[in-house]
Amino acid sequence: MLSSTRRGLVEGLRVAVNEAGYDHAVDASAVELEDFDDEEKGEFSSALSFAIGAAAGENPMEVAEAIADAHRAHGLPEGVASVSVENGHINYHLDAAAMARLTLSEIGDGGMDYGSRDLADPDTIIADVSSPNIAKPLHVGHLRNTILSDALMNILEERGHDVTRDNHLGDWGTQFGNLLHEYVEFGDEDAFEDDPIAHLLHLYQQFEQRDGMLEDVSEFGALTDGFEAAIEEERAYHTAQGKEWFARLERGDEAAVERWERFREASIERFEAIYAELGVDFDCWLGESFYAREGWTDAVVEKALDEDVAMRGPDESVFIPIYDDDYDDAGDPETADVDPSLDRAREMLDEAGSVEDADFDAFYIVKSDGSTVYGTRDLATIEYRIREFDADQSVYVVASEQNRYFQQLFVAARKMGYADIHLEHIDYGMISLPEGSMSTRGGQIVTVREVLDAADERARDIVREKGRNVAEEEVEAIARKIALATVKYGMVGANRGKDITFDIDEAVSLEGDTGPYVQYATTRAYSILDAAESVPAVADIDPAAFNDTDYDLIYHLGRYPLVLDRCEERYDAAPLAHYLLELAHVFNSFYHKNRVLDAETAAAERLVLTEATAQVFENGLGLLGIETLAEM
Ligand code: ARG
Repeated sequence: MLSSTRRGLVEGLRVAVNEAGYDHAVDASAVELEDFDDEEKGEFSSALSFAIGAAAGENPMEVAEAIADAHRAHGLPEGVASVSVENGHINYHLDAAAMARLTLSEIGDGGMDYGSRDLADPDTIIADVSSPNIAKPLHVGHLRNTILSDALMNILEERGHDVTRDNHLGDWGTQFGNLLHEYVEFGDEDAFEDDPIAHLLHLYQQFEQRDGMLEDVSEFGALTDGFEAAIEEERAYHTAQGKEWFARLERGDEAAVERWERFREASIERFEAIYAELGVDFDCWLGESFYAREGWTDAVVEKALDEDVAMRGPDESVFIPIYDDDYDDAGDPETADVDPSLDRAREMLDEAGSVEDADFDAFYIVKSDGSTVYGTRDLATIEYRIREFDADQSVYVVASEQNRYFQQLFVAARKMGYADIHLEHIDYGMISLPEGSMSTRGGQIVTVREVLDAADERARDIVREKGRNVAEEEVEAIARKIALATVKYGMVGANRGKDITFDIDEAVSLEGDTGPYVQYATTRAYSILDAAESVPAVADIDPAAFNDTDYDLIYHLGRYPLVLDRCEERYDAAPLAHYLLELAHVFNSFYHKNRVLDAETAAAERLVLTEATAQVFENGLGLLGIETLAEM
């Protein structure tokens, strides 16, 4: 209700601006309202008169009065009691009883759909969701990604868009050549069968650690030349073998492909088990390999060279030069006029003598050994999303560590001529451990498995402590949902941009502003509804019976669609998480200050209100991937 009233107000305000004769002084799109929840200021307000006054050279107070008069004459939308002017601000006051009836019937009629929107012309959005690298375990960083991106996609879908969730697996690149080599030399069938990811991780670490070996050993004192040379030789051998295996993989050599496929399938199987536990689904798992194996990367390289967007370096690598002024002042590549010409780069290269020292950034698409890279596959992905999906948006939920990379990718994409697709990188802070940064290479990680197990254990203790007679299986089922609520809410509710030091005990804590707190408020609403014989129809209640605490709750329920609007605008689920927590607080104070079932007045009204609240909790928590509980 609030959202349609609000829309009606904004439209009416635009008409009023015209009718008051100020349309020349302001752009229609600048005619907007601010949300207030203030008894004096009203629920909505506009400071438009100041901008108009400045542009038209008139007194803002008089401008405001003229617009308010025009709006009154034009007619205020249903549910709005009055418009007034205070200190030059135009304030709108809602008619509480009419609002209450409208909001409650909108929620009652909408049910599960309350907050959703149909769009006549939805955007086709293809998004990277989760997108881990294969052959490694999922760690808390992936957990953060998966939870944030899943919630965000749920919201974009709820807002009417066509969303395709693509698990853009990291399953291609030189590291898989290294892994193949390591497996062929040192792999153990049984260990692989037993726990494929653990075994592959071990092999990966073994390969990577060889790089650091020389430094590690030399810490113990000077090495004889012979010893040093032997280590160097050993390392060079393995590196060359890794390269060779990746070349075989790229050629489609059977021995390479068959093993790689086993790595990939075993990884996916393990990942899927975790995703199932998290309740997260994907529409496709194209992965980086898809673009390499189906010829999309080669096509992109060819196109970049043909169209003179990319150039060949002295070492035969191929790159797209990125200039400083390819970004606008805000560092945003989307709106910048990118300069695809290579002339400047050639000059800069001549001057500097090497690509590294030249005055541009090189976005590589082919390495000196001829293999393609991560960025090639991302460009190919954009081409594919445009051609095969006719995508309006390509969205990437990826940690802020890759901010620079995505800025460059987006500039490169513009140079390639991918102009009509909106590219959006949604970054989030990195996760480190109390003992330092996470490193799969060094073996310092917290896995998703560890987090889920710890959360489960904590939740089970708490459910058992409550000591109700619930059967053990039920304890487990309830605890599982509480645990997921804790972890998911914690991730979505945290400031997205901030780096997090991950403390497992804190993450699974059930105290304070958590998902279970919101779950618990929902359970309380359910139990009130359970105890009632029946819930009356909205049409049969009298909104005049509501008191201020009731209205406060109704107003919050009405804000729900506006909160989803904000989430969509910002590509961020956090406002929804914060809203639900606030709703839980407002509902709790409603519950503590009012009688519901045995109220002398307003019992029927409060039952309807309780039912509407439960509905909004269900809808909102559902979007965050959090289940509600009949019992806790
Ligand atoms: N697999 C990558 C990683 O683990 C993330 C992929 C992000 N998506 C993309 N299109 N580059 O770092």
